[in-house]
Amino acid sequence: MSKIGHWFAALAVFIGSWLSGYFTIMADAWMQHPIAYIRHTDESCEVSSFWRLLNNPWGLLQYAHTMCGALITGVFAVSAVGAFYLLERKHQESGRAFVSVGVCVGTLACALQIFPTGDLHGKYLAQHQPATMAAMEGLFNSARGAPLAIMGQPDIEEQKIDNPLVVNKTLSFLAYGTTLAEVKGLNEFPRDIWPTNIPLLYFAYHIMVGLGTWMVAVMALAAFLLWRGVLFRTRWALVAAAD
Ligand code: HEM
Repeated sequence: MSKIGHWFAALAVFIGSWLSGYFTIMADAWMQHPIAYIRHTDESCEVSSFWRLLNNPWGLLQYAHTMCGALITGVFAVSAVGAFYLLERKHQESGRAFVSVGVCVGTLACALQIFPTGDLHGKYLAQHQPATMAAMEGLFNSARGAPLAIMGQPDIEEQKIDNPLVVNKTLSFLAYGTTLAEVKGLNEFPRDIWPTNIPLLYFAYHIMVGLGTWMVAVMALAAFLLWRGVLFRTRWALVAAAD
């Protein structure tokens, strides 16, 4: 295949996979936050506007966050292959290109993953699914100036976080933009709308946020070394990237 043909094939794969992701996310977003539908007397639902469904604001945000996540997955793989080439002293030119593109795109994607996409996702959740938000944060009782649990294990029986490490007032600030806001705890909601597996949700969410924070730090350090012109010969950084 010629270079141009190769480029267009890559573009077609990119457009196809991102469009496919768009429709998948919009279907999921409609279940998370249904809009543009009519409820019939037999309890069935009919979509009243396909266009509005495809522009569900929840879905647009979810799409941006998920596709940034996909980009991050991709750039870590590309950077790892590039770092491996540089360490093995093979395909040096490709190795440098892979690492440079991986680090530049990765730094941007990791930053966007936290702000604004992750941050806004949390704010939407607080507004539209407060019980899910309380479960993700392990908050059982409502609190004004609610703390953010960085670590700890939710104890459903005792309704508390065991071995907590918290940052005061931060959850109120992140969810509502002010440290004075009240965040509703799980006890405010009937048990039948509590998420079914609270520990799974709590740990999955904390692992995601922990990884997001770690990844942005790694990419920022790599971007700094790239900018200083020393990344390609900093062995420990290449070994870390290849691993
Ligand atoms: C500090 C960083 C991050 C924050 C604050 C954050 C925040 C959030 C929030 C609030 C949700 C919604 C959860 C729900 O609807 O129950 C979410 C979902 C999600 N996050 Fe993150 N996230 C972060 C990092 C990451 C990273 C690093 C990845 C992957 C590389 C990622 C991938 C996802 C995915 C795939 C979803 C599911 C999308 C959905 O269906 O709503 N996130 N995130």
